Amino acid sequence: MNDVDAPIKLDDVLKRGGARCPGAPTTQEIIADDTVPAPAWVRSESYEFLGDEDISTDRYTDPAFAKREFDTLWTKTWQFACREEHIPEVGDYHVYDLGRYSFIITRVGEDDIRAYYNACLHRGTKLRASGTEGSACEFKCSFHGWTWNLDGTHKSSTCDWDFPHVDSEKFSLPQARVATLGGFVFINMDPEAPSLEDYLGPEALSHIKAWKLENRYITLHVSKRLPANWKLTMEAFMEAYHVIDTHPQVAPSNGDANSQYDFYGDHVDRFISTLGVVSPHLYGEISEQDIVDQFTLGDSSAMGDTKIKLEDGEKARGAVAKIFRNMFEQAANADLSHVSDSELLDCFSYTVFPNTFLFPGISLPMVYRFRPDPTDHRKSLYEVFFLRPVPREGERPEPAEPIHLGDDQSFTEAEGMDPGFGQILDQDTDNLRLQQEGIEASAKKSITLGNYQEIRVRHFENAVDKYVAG
Ligand code: FES
Ligand SMILES: [Fe+2]
Repeated sequence: MNDVDAPIKLDDVLKRGGARCPGAPTTQEIIADDTVPAPAWVRSESYEFLGDEDISTDRYTDPAFAKREFDTLWTKTWQFACREEHIPEVGDYHVYDLGRYSFIITRVGEDDIRAYYNACLHRGTKLRASGTEGSACEFKCSFHGWTWNLDGTHKSSTCDWDFPHVDSEKFSLPQARVATLGGFVFINMDPEAPSLEDYLGPEALSHIKAWKLENRYITLHVSKRLPANWKLTMEAFMEAYHVIDTHPQVAPSNGDANSQYDFYGDHVDRFISTLGVVSPHLYGEISEQDIVDQFTLGDSSAMGDTKIKLEDGEKARGAVAKIFRNMFEQAANADLSHVSDSELLDCFSYTVFPNTFLFPGISLPMVYRFRPDPTDHRKSLYEVFFLRPVPREGERPEPAEPIHLGDDQSFTEAEGMDPGFGQILDQDTDNLRLQQEGIEASAKKSITLGNYQEIRVRHFENAVDKYVAG
Protein backbone atom coordinates (compact mmCIF):
# COMPACT_ATOMS: atom_id res chain seq x y z
CA MET A 1 0.00 0.00 0.00
CA ASN A 2 1.48 3.37 -0.89
CA ASP A 3 1.17 6.48 1.27
CA VAL A 4 -1.79 7.87 -0.65
CA ASP A 5 -3.89 4.85 0.28
CA ALA A 6 -2.77 4.70 3.92
CA PRO A 7 -5.62 5.39 6.36
CA ILE A 8 -5.28 8.73 8.14
CA LYS A 9 -4.94 8.13 11.87
CA LEU A 10 -6.96 10.35 14.23
CA ASP A 11 -3.94 10.68 16.50
CA ASP A 12 -1.86 12.09 13.65
CA VAL A 13 -4.55 14.62 12.79
CA LEU A 14 -4.77 15.75 16.41
CA LYS A 15 -1.00 16.00 16.70
CA ARG A 16 -0.88 18.15 13.58
CA GLY A 17 -3.13 20.96 14.79
CA GLY A 18 -6.42 19.15 14.16
CA ALA A 19 -7.65 19.31 17.77
CA ARG A 20 -10.23 21.93 18.79
CA CYS A 21 -11.70 22.86 22.17
CA PRO A 22 -13.67 19.74 23.20
CA GLY A 23 -17.37 20.07 23.91
CA ALA A 24 -17.60 23.61 22.55
CA PRO A 25 -19.14 24.86 19.30
CA THR A 26 -16.65 26.24 16.82
CA THR A 27 -16.66 29.92 15.96
CA GLN A 28 -18.23 29.06 12.60
CA GLU A 29 -21.01 27.08 14.31
CA ILE A 30 -21.75 30.00 16.64
CA ILE A 31 -21.87 32.45 13.75
CA ALA A 32 -24.02 30.13 11.61
CA ASP A 33 -26.85 30.48 14.18
CA ASP A 34 -26.91 34.30 14.02
CA THR A 35 -30.02 36.20 12.96
CA VAL A 36 -28.32 38.54 10.48
CA PRO A 37 -25.93 36.31 8.53
CA ALA A 38 -22.23 37.03 8.21
CA PRO A 39 -20.45 37.85 4.94
CA ALA A 40 -18.07 35.45 3.18
CA TRP A 41 -14.94 37.01 4.70
CA VAL A 42 -16.25 35.95 8.14
CA ARG A 43 -17.53 32.52 7.12
CA SER A 44 -14.26 30.98 6.03
CA GLU A 45 -11.33 29.22 7.64
CA SER A 46 -7.69 29.18 6.60
CA TYR A 47 -5.61 27.21 9.10
CA GLU A 48 -2.70 24.87 8.44
CA PHE A 49 -0.34 23.10 10.81
CA LEU A 50 3.05 24.83 10.70
CA GLY A 51 5.05 22.53 13.00
CA ASP A 52 5.37 22.25 16.74
CA GLU A 53 9.04 22.95 17.38
CA ASP A 54 10.02 25.39 20.10
CA ILE A 55 11.08 28.90 19.07
CA SER A 56 14.34 30.14 20.54
CA THR A 57 14.13 33.32 22.63
CA ASP A 58 17.27 35.12 21.45
CA ARG A 59 14.99 37.00 19.06
CA TYR A 60 13.51 38.79 22.09
CA THR A 61 16.69 39.30 24.08
CA ASP A 62 19.62 39.77 21.71
CA PRO A 63 20.38 43.35 20.61
CA ALA A 64 22.15 41.92 17.55
CA PHE A 65 18.87 40.31 16.46
CA ALA A 66 17.13 43.67 16.82
CA LYS A 67 19.83 45.28 14.70
CA ARG A 68 19.38 42.62 12.00
CA GLU A 69 15.66 43.34 12.02
CA PHE A 70 16.33 47.04 11.47
CA ASP A 71 18.62 46.20 8.55
CA THR A 72 16.68 43.40 6.88
CA LEU A 73 13.04 43.37 8.01
CA TRP A 74 11.96 46.96 8.53
CA THR A 75 13.66 48.00 5.28
CA LYS A 76 11.70 45.51 3.16
CA THR A 77 8.16 45.41 4.51
CA TRP A 78 5.03 47.52 4.06
CA GLN A 79 4.28 49.60 7.14
CA PHE A 80 1.32 51.73 8.12
CA ALA A 81 2.82 55.23 8.29
CA CYS A 82 -0.30 57.38 8.79
CA ARG A 83 -3.94 57.68 7.78
CA GLU A 84 -4.92 59.70 4.73
CA GLU A 85 -6.96 61.88 7.08
CA HIS A 86 -3.68 63.02 8.69
CA ILE A 87 -2.77 64.73 5.41
CA PRO A 88 -6.07 65.73 3.76
CA GLU A 89 -4.82 68.81 1.86
CA VAL A 90 -1.99 69.24 -0.65
CA GLY A 91 1.06 70.32 1.35
CA ASP A 92 0.04 68.54 4.56
CA TYR A 93 2.78 66.36 5.97
CA HIS A 94 3.19 63.83 8.78
CA VAL A 95 6.54 62.52 10.04
CA TYR A 96 6.68 58.73 10.48
CA ASP A 97 9.63 57.38 12.48
CA LEU A 98 10.82 53.81 12.83
CA GLY A 99 14.00 53.39 14.85
CA ARG A 100 16.62 55.52 13.15
CA TYR A 101 14.51 55.77 9.99
CA SER A 102 12.29 58.77 9.45
CA PHE A 103 10.01 59.80 6.58
CA ILE A 104 8.05 62.89 5.68
CA ILE A 105 4.73 61.62 4.36
CA THR A 106 3.23 64.43 2.32
CA ARG A 107 0.37 65.00 -0.08
CA VAL A 108 1.76 66.43 -3.29
CA GLY A 109 -1.48 66.23 -5.29
CA GLU A 110 -5.03 65.10 -4.65
CA ASP A 111 -4.07 61.47 -5.38
CA ASP A 112 -0.32 61.76 -5.03
CA ILE A 113 1.22 60.95 -1.64
CA ARG A 114 5.00 60.71 -1.27
CA ALA A 115 7.31 59.49 1.49
CA TYR A 116 10.61 61.40 1.55
CA TYR A 117 13.57 60.17 3.55
CA ASN A 118 13.68 62.81 6.28
CA ALA A 119 17.27 63.97 5.86
CA CYS A 120 18.85 66.95 4.17
CA LEU A 121 21.09 66.08 1.21
CA HIS A 122 23.65 68.67 2.37
CA ARG A 123 24.88 67.50 5.78
CA GLY A 124 22.03 65.28 6.78
CA THR A 125 19.88 67.33 9.16
CA LYS A 126 16.29 66.13 9.53
CA LEU A 127 14.08 68.40 7.46
CA ARG A 128 11.23 68.04 9.94
CA ALA A 129 11.50 66.98 13.57
CA SER A 130 10.38 63.46 14.50
CA GLY A 131 6.77 63.08 15.50
CA THR A 132 5.66 66.37 13.96
CA GLU A 133 3.07 67.23 11.33
CA GLY A 134 1.90 70.37 9.59
CA SER A 135 1.49 72.01 6.23
CA ALA A 136 4.24 73.19 3.88
CA CYS A 137 4.74 74.52 0.37
CA GLU A 138 8.43 73.55 0.47
CA PHE A 139 10.88 71.80 2.80
CA LYS A 140 13.69 74.09 3.96
CA CYS A 141 16.52 72.78 6.13
CA SER A 142 16.97 74.67 9.37
CA PHE A 143 20.80 74.37 9.33
CA HIS A 144 21.97 76.15 6.14
CA GLY A 145 18.68 76.69 4.36
CA TRP A 146 18.83 74.25 1.48
CA THR A 147 15.29 73.90 0.17
CA TRP A 148 13.21 71.32 -1.69
CA ASN A 149 9.90 71.81 -3.47
CA LEU A 150 6.84 69.92 -2.27
CA ASP A 151 7.33 67.47 -5.15
CA GLY A 152 10.80 66.65 -3.79
CA THR A 153 12.82 68.41 -6.48
CA HIS A 154 15.76 70.51 -5.31
CA LYS A 155 14.84 74.19 -5.20
CA SER A 156 17.88 76.06 -3.91
CA SER A 157 21.14 75.89 -2.00
CA THR A 158 22.37 78.87 0.00
CA CYS A 159 25.58 80.27 -1.63
CA ASP A 160 25.17 77.93 -4.55
CA TRP A 161 28.36 79.41 -6.08
CA ASP A 162 30.20 77.19 -3.59
CA PHE A 163 28.53 74.02 -4.84
CA PRO A 164 29.32 73.85 -8.55
CA HIS A 165 29.61 70.09 -8.07
CA VAL A 166 25.95 69.79 -6.98
CA ASP A 167 23.66 68.99 -9.90
CA SER A 168 20.26 70.25 -8.83
CA GLU A 169 18.61 67.73 -11.17
CA LYS A 170 20.17 64.89 -9.18
CA PHE A 171 19.40 66.34 -5.76
CA SER A 172 15.74 65.43 -5.47
CA LEU A 173 14.77 63.97 -2.09
CA PRO A 174 14.98 60.16 -2.13
CA GLN A 175 11.61 58.46 -1.66
CA ALA A 176 10.23 55.28 -0.16
CA ARG A 177 7.35 53.61 -1.99
CA VAL A 178 3.81 54.55 -1.01
CA ALA A 179 0.53 52.67 -1.34
CA THR A 180 -2.89 53.44 0.11
CA LEU A 181 -5.57 51.01 1.20
CA GLY A 182 -8.71 51.58 3.26
CA GLY A 183 -7.59 55.11 4.18
CA PHE A 184 -4.18 53.90 5.41
CA VAL A 185 -0.91 55.16 3.92
CA PHE A 186 1.63 52.35 3.75
CA ILE A 187 5.31 52.81 2.90
CA ASN A 188 8.08 50.41 1.93
CA MET A 189 11.79 51.26 1.69
CA ASP A 190 12.53 48.42 -0.71
CA PRO A 191 12.23 49.31 -4.40
CA GLU A 192 12.21 45.57 -5.21
CA ALA A 193 9.42 44.62 -2.77
CA PRO A 194 6.16 43.25 -4.17
CA SER A 195 3.26 45.69 -4.48
CA LEU A 196 1.13 46.08 -1.35
CA GLU A 197 -1.62 44.06 -3.10
CA ASP A 198 0.73 41.16 -3.85
CA TYR A 199 2.25 41.41 -0.37
CA LEU A 200 -1.19 40.96 1.20
CA GLY A 201 -2.40 38.38 -1.30
CA PRO A 202 -5.84 38.26 -2.95
CA GLU A 203 -7.87 36.78 -0.10
CA ALA A 204 -6.65 39.08 2.67
CA LEU A 205 -6.91 42.01 0.27
CA SER A 206 -10.54 41.18 -0.47
CA HIS A 207 -11.28 41.08 3.28
CA ILE A 208 -9.65 44.44 3.92
CA LYS A 209 -11.40 46.08 0.97
CA ALA A 210 -14.77 44.73 2.16
CA TRP A 211 -14.51 46.66 5.44
CA LYS A 212 -14.29 50.07 3.73
CA LEU A 213 -12.09 51.44 6.49
CA GLU A 214 -11.64 54.58 4.38
CA ASN A 215 -15.08 55.52 5.72
CA ARG A 216 -13.81 55.60 9.30
CA TYR A 217 -11.91 58.28 11.18
CA ILE A 218 -9.72 58.33 14.27
CA THR A 219 -11.76 59.18 17.35
CA LEU A 220 -9.09 58.25 19.89
CA HIS A 221 -5.33 57.72 19.54
CA VAL A 222 -3.31 56.60 22.56
CA SER A 223 0.37 55.67 22.65
CA LYS A 224 2.55 54.19 25.34
CA ARG A 225 5.98 52.56 25.64
CA LEU A 226 5.57 48.94 26.74
CA PRO A 227 8.12 46.93 28.73
CA ALA A 228 8.87 44.18 26.19
CA ASN A 229 10.39 43.51 22.79
CA TRP A 230 8.06 44.57 19.95
CA LYS A 231 7.48 40.96 18.87
CA LEU A 232 6.54 39.78 22.36
CA THR A 233 4.21 42.74 22.60
CA MET A 234 2.49 41.90 19.32
CA GLU A 235 2.19 38.25 20.24
CA ALA A 236 0.32 39.17 23.44
CA PHE A 237 -2.54 40.28 21.19
CA MET A 238 -2.57 37.33 18.80
CA GLU A 239 -4.52 34.81 20.82
CA ALA A 240 -7.52 34.55 23.12
CA TYR A 241 -5.82 31.66 24.96
CA HIS A 242 -4.72 34.06 27.73
CA VAL A 243 -8.19 35.53 28.36
CA ILE A 244 -9.26 33.13 31.11
CA ASP A 245 -6.18 33.81 33.25
CA THR A 246 -5.23 37.36 32.31
CA HIS A 247 -8.66 38.92 31.67
CA PRO A 248 -11.07 36.70 33.65
CA GLN A 249 -13.56 39.58 33.80
CA VAL A 250 -14.42 39.14 30.10
CA ALA A 251 -14.54 35.32 30.01
CA PRO A 252 -18.26 35.15 30.95
CA SER A 253 -19.10 36.69 27.57
CA ASN A 254 -16.22 35.64 25.31
CA GLY A 255 -15.73 32.40 23.37
CA ASP A 256 -12.02 32.36 24.14
CA ALA A 257 -10.92 28.72 23.94
CA ASN A 258 -13.09 28.20 20.85
CA SER A 259 -11.86 31.27 18.96
CA GLN A 260 -10.88 30.76 15.33
CA TYR A 261 -7.35 31.28 13.93
CA ASP A 262 -6.40 31.74 10.29
CA PHE A 263 -3.54 32.89 8.14
CA TYR A 264 -3.26 34.04 4.53
CA GLY A 265 0.11 33.85 2.80
CA ASP A 266 3.18 35.10 4.67
CA HIS A 267 1.96 38.48 5.84
CA VAL A 268 -1.60 38.32 7.16
CA ASP A 269 -3.19 36.28 9.93
CA ARG A 270 -6.29 36.70 12.05
CA PHE A 271 -8.49 35.50 14.84
CA ILE A 272 -12.23 35.69 15.32
CA SER A 273 -13.22 35.70 18.98
CA THR A 274 -16.96 35.57 19.56
CA LEU A 275 -18.80 37.75 22.07
CA GLY A 276 -22.15 37.12 23.70
CA VAL A 277 -21.25 33.48 24.40
CA VAL A 278 -19.61 32.07 27.51
CA SER A 279 -16.03 30.86 27.63
CA PRO A 280 -15.84 27.05 27.45
CA HIS A 281 -13.79 27.29 30.67
CA LEU A 282 -16.96 28.46 32.44
CA TYR A 283 -19.54 26.04 31.02
CA GLY A 284 -22.04 25.17 33.74
CA GLU A 285 -21.16 28.23 35.82
CA ILE A 286 -22.62 31.06 33.74
CA SER A 287 -26.21 31.29 32.49
CA GLU A 288 -27.39 32.98 29.30
CA GLN A 289 -28.88 35.73 31.51
CA ASP A 290 -25.48 36.18 33.19
CA ILE A 291 -23.95 36.79 29.76
CA VAL A 292 -26.48 39.50 28.96
CA ASP A 293 -25.94 41.05 32.37
CA GLN A 294 -22.24 41.28 31.61
CA PHE A 295 -23.13 43.77 28.87
CA THR A 296 -25.99 45.56 30.55
CA LEU A 297 -24.91 46.04 34.15
CA GLY A 298 -21.87 47.56 35.78
CA ASP A 299 -19.73 50.64 35.42
CA SER A 300 -17.84 49.67 32.29
CA SER A 301 -20.72 47.90 30.57
CA ALA A 302 -21.81 48.80 27.07
CA MET A 303 -25.29 49.86 28.16
CA GLY A 304 -24.87 51.35 31.60
CA ASP A 305 -27.53 50.19 34.02
CA THR A 306 -30.23 49.01 31.64
CA LYS A 307 -31.50 45.56 32.60
CA ILE A 308 -32.53 43.22 29.77
CA LYS A 309 -34.48 40.07 30.71
CA LEU A 310 -34.20 37.08 28.38
CA GLU A 311 -37.30 35.12 27.41
CA ASP A 312 -37.35 31.40 28.15
CA GLY A 313 -34.96 29.65 25.75
CA GLU A 314 -33.70 32.92 24.32
CA LYS A 315 -29.96 33.02 23.69
CA ALA A 316 -27.81 35.81 25.03
CA ARG A 317 -25.92 36.32 21.76
CA GLY A 318 -29.02 37.32 19.79
CA ALA A 319 -30.15 39.70 22.55
CA VAL A 320 -26.73 41.29 22.82
CA ALA A 321 -26.62 41.71 19.02
CA LYS A 322 -29.90 43.64 19.20
CA ILE A 323 -28.55 45.83 22.00
CA PHE A 324 -25.37 46.57 20.05
CA ARG A 325 -27.26 47.28 16.83
CA ASN A 326 -29.45 49.90 18.54
CA MET A 327 -26.57 51.41 20.44
CA PHE A 328 -24.25 51.79 17.45
CA GLU A 329 -27.00 52.99 15.12
CA GLN A 330 -27.70 55.81 17.54
CA ALA A 331 -24.06 56.57 18.23
CA ALA A 332 -23.02 56.62 14.57
CA ASN A 333 -26.28 58.02 13.20
CA ALA A 334 -26.10 55.14 10.72
CA ASP A 335 -28.35 52.33 9.45
CA LEU A 336 -26.72 49.05 10.55
CA SER A 337 -29.66 46.74 9.79
CA HIS A 338 -27.66 44.98 7.05
CA VAL A 339 -24.56 44.49 9.26
CA SER A 340 -24.25 40.91 10.49
CA ASP A 341 -24.44 40.02 14.18
CA SER A 342 -20.89 38.79 13.96
CA GLU A 343 -19.50 42.06 12.58
CA LEU A 344 -21.37 43.95 15.29
CA LEU A 345 -20.30 41.78 18.17
CA ASP A 346 -17.19 39.78 17.54
CA CYS A 347 -13.55 40.66 17.89
CA PHE A 348 -11.85 40.35 14.51
CA SER A 349 -8.13 40.83 14.70
CA TYR A 350 -5.95 40.82 11.58
CA THR A 351 -2.19 41.25 11.63
CA VAL A 352 -0.60 42.89 8.63
CA PHE A 353 3.07 41.98 8.93
CA PRO A 354 5.19 43.33 10.41
CA ASN A 355 3.50 45.66 12.87
CA THR A 356 -0.15 46.51 12.28
CA PHE A 357 -3.30 44.96 13.70
CA LEU A 358 -6.63 45.80 12.10
CA PHE A 359 -9.84 45.22 14.06
CA PRO A 360 -12.65 45.92 11.59
CA GLY A 361 -15.52 44.82 13.87
CA ILE A 362 -18.03 47.44 14.97
CA SER A 363 -17.83 46.91 18.74
CA LEU A 364 -14.01 47.08 18.85
CA PRO A 365 -13.10 49.17 15.81
CA MET A 366 -9.39 49.58 16.37
CA VAL A 367 -5.96 49.61 14.84
CA TYR A 368 -2.80 48.76 16.75
CA ARG A 369 0.66 49.74 15.62
CA PHE A 370 3.84 48.41 17.24
CA ARG A 371 7.36 49.69 16.73
CA PRO A 372 10.64 48.72 18.33
CA ASP A 373 12.00 51.27 20.78
CA PRO A 374 14.83 52.99 18.88
CA THR A 375 17.42 52.36 21.59
CA ASP A 376 16.17 49.50 23.78
CA HIS A 377 15.25 46.17 22.19
CA ARG A 378 13.46 45.24 25.46
CA LYS A 379 10.86 47.95 24.93
CA SER A 380 8.35 48.80 22.24
CA LEU A 381 6.12 51.66 21.20
CA TYR A 382 2.45 50.72 21.17
CA GLU A 383 -0.39 52.76 19.72
CA VAL A 384 -4.12 52.13 19.64
CA PHE A 385 -6.34 54.06 17.24
CA PHE A 386 -10.13 53.82 17.54
CA LEU A 387 -11.68 54.13 14.08
CA ARG A 388 -15.38 54.97 14.08
CA PRO A 389 -17.62 55.47 11.03
CA VAL A 390 -17.59 58.97 9.56
CA PRO A 391 -20.97 60.56 10.40
CA ARG A 392 -23.48 60.54 7.55
CA GLU A 393 -23.93 64.29 7.66
CA GLY A 394 -21.61 67.23 8.06
CA GLU A 395 -17.88 67.57 7.48
CA ARG A 396 -15.51 64.71 8.02
CA PRO A 397 -14.21 65.19 11.60
CA GLU A 398 -10.48 65.77 12.15
CA PRO A 399 -8.50 62.80 13.45
CA ALA A 400 -7.96 62.83 17.22
CA GLU A 401 -4.61 64.13 18.47
CA PRO A 402 -2.41 61.43 20.02
CA ILE A 403 -2.38 61.07 23.79
CA HIS A 404 1.06 59.93 24.96
CA LEU A 405 1.00 58.04 28.25
CA GLY A 406 4.06 57.84 30.51
CA ASP A 407 5.61 54.40 31.13
CA ASP A 408 3.96 54.15 34.54
CA GLN A 409 0.57 55.55 33.62
CA SER A 410 -2.51 53.36 33.35
CA PHE A 411 -4.33 53.13 30.02
CA THR A 412 -7.43 54.10 31.98
CA GLU A 413 -5.92 57.59 32.43
CA ALA A 414 -6.21 58.38 28.72
CA GLU A 415 -9.17 60.70 28.26
CA GLY A 416 -11.86 58.98 26.22
CA MET A 417 -10.59 55.44 26.87
CA ASP A 418 -13.27 52.98 27.98
CA PRO A 419 -12.20 52.05 31.54
CA GLY A 420 -12.90 48.35 30.99
CA PHE A 421 -10.72 48.29 27.89
CA GLY A 422 -8.02 50.33 29.62
CA GLN A 423 -7.98 47.72 32.38
CA ILE A 424 -7.48 44.95 29.79
CA LEU A 425 -4.48 46.79 28.30
CA ASP A 426 -3.01 47.30 31.79
CA GLN A 427 -3.35 43.57 32.47
CA ASP A 428 -1.52 42.83 29.22
CA THR A 429 1.19 45.35 30.11
CA ASP A 430 1.81 43.69 33.49
CA ASN A 431 2.22 40.33 31.76
CA LEU A 432 4.61 41.75 29.19
CA ARG A 433 6.98 43.07 31.83
CA LEU A 434 7.02 39.67 33.55
CA GLN A 435 7.38 37.83 30.24
CA GLN A 436 10.36 39.89 29.00
CA GLU A 437 12.11 39.49 32.35
CA GLY A 438 11.20 35.80 32.59
CA ILE A 439 12.50 35.04 29.12
CA GLU A 440 15.80 36.60 30.11
CA ALA A 441 15.86 34.63 33.40
CA SER A 442 14.91 31.37 31.71
CA ALA A 443 17.15 28.31 31.55
CA LYS A 444 15.00 26.90 28.74
CA LYS A 445 15.78 29.59 26.15
CA SER A 446 12.79 28.74 24.03
CA ILE A 447 9.03 29.12 23.95
CA THR A 448 6.55 26.29 23.35
CA LEU A 449 3.39 27.04 21.36
CA GLY A 450 -0.07 25.53 21.07
CA ASN A 451 -0.70 24.09 17.61
CA TYR A 452 -3.95 25.91 16.99
CA GLN A 453 -4.53 28.75 19.43
CA GLU A 454 -0.99 30.09 19.02
CA ILE A 455 -0.65 29.56 15.28
CA ARG A 456 -0.52 33.32 14.69
CA VAL A 457 2.58 33.57 16.88
CA ARG A 458 4.31 30.83 14.87
CA HIS A 459 3.13 32.28 11.55
CA PHE A 460 4.41 35.72 12.57
CA GLU A 461 7.79 34.42 13.75
CA ASN A 462 8.16 32.42 10.54
CA ALA A 463 7.83 35.66 8.62
CA VAL A 464 10.35 37.36 10.93
CA ASP A 465 12.78 34.51 10.25
CA LYS A 466 12.26 34.78 6.53
CA TYR A 467 13.26 38.45 6.48
CA VAL A 468 16.03 38.22 9.04
CA ALA A 469 17.58 35.26 7.21
CA GLY A 470 17.47 37.38 4.06
S1 FES B 1 22.45 70.32 6.66
FE1 FES B 1 20.72 70.97 5.61
S2 FES B 1 21.30 72.82 4.72
FE2 FES B 1 23.06 72.13 5.70
FE1 LIG C 1 -4.84 40.50 26.49
